[in-house]
Amino acid sequence: MNPPDLRQNRRRFLRHLTLGAGLLSVPAAFAEELVRTPQQTEGPFYPDHLPLDTDNDLLIVNDNLTRAVGEITHLSGRILDAKGDPIRNALVEIWQVDNNGVYLNTKDDHAKRDANFQGFGRFLTGSTGEYYFRTVKPVLYPGRTRHIHFALKMKGREKWTTQCYVKGEPANERDGIYKSIQDPKARAAVTVDFTSIQGSRIGELAARFNIVMGFTPEA
Ligand SMILES: [Fe+2]
Repeated sequence: MNPPDLRQNRRRFLRHLTLGAGLLSVPAAFAEELVRTPQQTEGPFYPDHLPLDTDNDLLIVNDNLTRAVGEITHLSGRILDAKGDPIRNALVEIWQVDNNGVYLNTKDDHAKRDANFQGFGRFLTGSTGEYYFRTVKPVLYPGRTRHIHFALKMKGREKWTTQCYVKGEPANERDGIYKSIQDPKARAAVTVDFTSIQGSRIGELAARFNIVMGFTPEA
């Protein structure tokens, strides 16, 4: 579910509530509309050495002038709790292959690696639960459909991982990890549109991936 939908649902629900004279409590009824993001394996390619630059712009490493090759993607979303409220102070980490299908992890084939791609990034959420990365649209590599790995680190909780997929990618239907998510709603929750940004002369894309956790953090 993307944020406009979420807001729309909430608006629709609140309107409904006004008409219905408040028979239900808002949080309980709203919680039922949110699909929890399914957890997915971390996989073998979390960086074994973190890059010197771990910011949220994966296209530029440190102060380099050359940017990574690939379809530029503005990836954003919100980290929400089970009630749909934003989670602040969540450390969001992403890692993915470069435009040649190579991970930063030294286990991967670095002869082909794009040295200008950061391969990993971090973003700490504020009060809105929002995160943002500039990266490239992930390409296919042998055995996997296009995906971006996510890890969420929150105080007092175990690291939580999932993967985000590209809507309409035919290889999704052949991907065992993707298909291990059996519930269609849960599958839809990790499958997002990579849409062209109107007016972008360099063909930039935008993708929106909200993550709904199955808990509400204690204040
Ligand atoms: Fe992967």
